[in-house]
Amino acid sequence: MADYKSDLSGWNPVSDFFPKILKQAAQSNNIEDDTIRIFEVGSYKGLSTSSMGNICKKLEKDIGKKCAIISIDTWLWADNERLKN
Ligand SMILES: C[S@@+](CC[C@H](N)C(=O)[O-])C[C@H]1O[C@@H](n2cnc3c(N)ncnc32)[C@H](O)[C@@H]1O
Repeated sequence: MADYKSDLSGWNPVSDFFPKILKQAAQSNNIEDDTIRIFEVGSYKGLSTSSMGNICKKLEKDIGKKCAIISIDTWLWADNERLKN
């Protein structure tokens, strides 16, 4: 992995939505085995995934609930030049 540089450019680094919705999910009684399962459609380079992951780490520490995040993206919309950077 030494040849790869991290590039988490994206759209949703500091949205209020993620902390709010994940906290609601963590406090819900509908979670089996204390795991919040997140299925993200459209992760691009992973900025939103990383943001949710950081919130999940805090929730695990504060409330004891874990997250499992599955992220997918088709990358079909992006032009080739943009994905090279
Ligand atoms: C605006 S970007 C958001 C990226 C990321 N969630 C963020 O906040 O940084 C939307 C992404 O959704 C992806 N996308 C759009 N329709 C999709 C679909 N049907 N299945 C999977 N990915 C999709 C696009 O390829 C694009 O990368």
